[in-house]
Amino acid sequence: MSSEHTIDWEALRAAALAATEHSYAPYSGLAVGCAALVDDGRVVVGCNVENASYGLTLCAECTMLGALHLGGGGRLRAFVCVDGAGAPLTPCGRCRQLLFEAAAPGMLLATASGPRTIDELLPDAFGPSALPAR
Ligand code: THU
Repeated sequence: MSSEHTIDWEALRAAALAATEHSYAPYSGLAVGCAALVDDGRVVVGCNVENASYGLTLCAECTMLGALHLGGGGRLRAFVCVDGAGAPLTPCGRCRQLLFEAAAPGMLLATASGPRTIDELLPDAFGPSALPAR
């Protein structure tokens, strides 16, 4: 779907919108879907999964990252998140942290103001390099 240098943002948006169809959001009513291009060319998707114990809700990014690892791992080059009408959503703070750890260098995230790097959305991030060597 994408050469090494081009990102098919429309295809990612379409995949994210299709993922909203699987959302389980009876409490907030906000269906969320996301999609990312992996560095081997795969596209992984996720949807939000809410719970009656509200704080246990899984954001769409969480289920997408499970799919990333179940499908063989890899690093994310580009990411899109949308609501059920296709409007862009910017990841919450927790999900920025999760995405940071799965990001390829220079990973881009679609936002309402255009593509942004993960470093713009999570400056001076805490990450694996802050942990002691083991
Ligand atoms: N949500 C996501 O799926 N991703 C985000 O980055 C922000 C919020 C979901 C969680 C919850 O099901 C709904 O949006 C309302 O917060």
